[in-house]
Amino acid sequence: MRDEKSGKRSVGKMPKGRTKLERAWESRAELFLWAKKWRTVLSGSFVRGTTRWFSGARLNITENCLDRHLPLQSDKVAIYWEPNDPDGKGISLTYGELSRAVGRMANVLLSQGVKKGDFVCIYLPMIPEAAIAMLACARIGAVHNFVFGGFSAKSLSDRINDCGARVLITCDVSLRGPKKIDFRVLAEQALAECPKVKKVLFVENGTKRKPLPSLFVSLNKELAKASPICAPTLIGAEDPLFVLYTSGSTGRTKGLLHAAGGYMVYAGYSFNEVFNYQPKEVYWCTADMGWITGHTYSLYGPLLAGATVVMFEGVPTYPTPKRYWEIIEKYRVNIFYTAPTVIRALAAFGPDQVKKLKLKSLRLLGSVGEPLNQEAWHWYHHYIGKGRCPIVDTWWQTETGGILISPPSGGLTKPGSVGLPLPLIDTAIVDSNGKEVRKAGVSGYLCVKGPWPGLAKTILNDSARFVKGYFSKIKGYYFSGDAAWRDSDGYYFVSGRVDDVMNVSGQRIGSAEVENALCLHPDVAEASVVSYRHEIKGEGIYAFIVLKRDRLDADLLREELVVAVARSIGPTAKPGKIQIVTGLPKTRSGKIMRRLLRRLAAGESCVGEDLSTLTDQNVIVDIAKGIVGEK
Ligand code: PRX
Repeated sequence: MRDEKSGKRSVGKMPKGRTKLERAWESRAELFLWAKKWRTVLSGSFVRGTTRWFSGARLNITENCLDRHLPLQSDKVAIYWEPNDPDGKGISLTYGELSRAVGRMANVLLSQGVKKGDFVCIYLPMIPEAAIAMLACARIGAVHNFVFGGFSAKSLSDRINDCGARVLITCDVSLRGPKKIDFRVLAEQALAECPKVKKVLFVENGTKRKPLPSLFVSLNKELAKASPICAPTLIGAEDPLFVLYTSGSTGRTKGLLHAAGGYMVYAGYSFNEVFNYQPKEVYWCTADMGWITGHTYSLYGPLLAGATVVMFEGVPTYPTPKRYWEIIEKYRVNIFYTAPTVIRALAAFGPDQVKKLKLKSLRLLGSVGEPLNQEAWHWYHHYIGKGRCPIVDTWWQTETGGILISPPSGGLTKPGSVGLPLPLIDTAIVDSNGKEVRKAGVSGYLCVKGPWPGLAKTILNDSARFVKGYFSKIKGYYFSGDAAWRDSDGYYFVSGRVDDVMNVSGQRIGSAEVENALCLHPDVAEASVVSYRHEIKGEGIYAFIVLKRDRLDADLLREELVVAVARSIGPTAKPGKIQIVTGLPKTRSGKIMRRLLRRLAAGESCVGEDLSTLTDQNVIVDIAKGIVGEK
């Protein structure tokens, strides 16, 4: 704790009357640098979704990620950046160098008129500038809105417009395996729909081509001129640090807003609890910065701990499926955190590619984003962890800010289980009547009973949706939207979403978003989308389509629909199966019964389902006849 005026450390007396939970979080918070201490640790109401953490405190998270480490480890590597091309030149940035790079970028942002509280959209691939831009925004108190590079121009413009960003940071190209993705063109397409954007700060990472449009400013040139020193702007603990968009069960994506103080404490706390990082270790989380895992565990969490992280531009299969394992050997990675879809995709290449790997440096393996099935767990454990590295399968969400459930560090791990709630986290399984399920083996809604500092503050521009979505369904609890059960040791097993949100390759995609995209096609009258089990992606997307007019060229139509979805959302949202049907199963009130479609898509019959509310039961019979099988 530092006094704002004198700059001296001042821990201050703890006011009386704090609960045990508040005292526990206070002691965690005291491990960080704050310019001004909080008046209250926790206030507001958890059950109404209005908790406030560390009110009255002032801070800058980058002081904790960077400045705090400089006296003792300015020369320690903060980021090893590995380019897409295995023969390309990597970059390593020490804490000192990263701090100066952030200073330069922060000064460029200031010179372009960005102020505290302004939203800045970042649309970058996994290049060092992605991390630097996020930290630079945080340095000056601007709120970053990072948009994943795999999203379409339309998704980008929607996200820019929703937060009202006037500045976009992007680049020329993204290199992903053999593919070159033209970010400049995507950004230009998006900007046509974003009249409020006044400046585009542009990383010139491609080959020179047509001159930059007038809105564009070359970041390379500006950074070369900028001073590396930029004093941190202090913000309130409850002021926003970033907004990150994710899918919900309606068509509109939601911008989860995270506040600086609580998020910082939870990112740092959970990183240490789960990974138990040791000073000389190298840590690699493969998540793109465009996801919450990228925010919390590729960037903020490890930098708060002064860790050395690996950042990789490319994809796991380029130039060969050994790429990840070669990177682990090259940088002697000790802690490796990735997604089940990656594990399954690499396992599919067979055991020969991994048999001879040494991977001696590895100490701990992690997984996140979707259920890690037993087969993938054993493959990961046997071939990558060589039977000696524990696996932490971690459960959490964009909303929770950080990991809430994980096998205890150094404790028991069980294949298929995400372990136990972290200390200070109070999770529960609740039935549809709001009663807690305590019996082992009985499934229910995965909920959280009490507050933690990582929880998002709200949904940007829609606080009613935040309260309704997370705090109204089960009174008194935070409702995650997932189903889970516990075994007799209290270990949690997450079975998946209970709402209309799908999880494709670990990415959240709302059924309604895909349906909206499909309905934009002029020949589509109606669409309903569900997920089906997919060997590699976890879930694939199955679309049922009702047409306005007959199309004899059904294959061409399917292609058009796939392209339409990719354009509207991004390639991950492309339906794997499309079935043209004469009608959808609807109740008399007009509601589509996705539950039935899910069963049909899984190749199951609807026998035993209550079909009495359906307007036309023949629809089910017709659909069942035309179910699209595995290709
Ligand atoms: O369904 C759960 C699944 O991913 C959802 C959260 O997605 P997102 O906000 O994009 O964040 C992903 C990374 C934190 C959850 O509601 N999920 C996340 N982790 C796991 C998981 N499902 C099973 N096991 C996990 N370890």
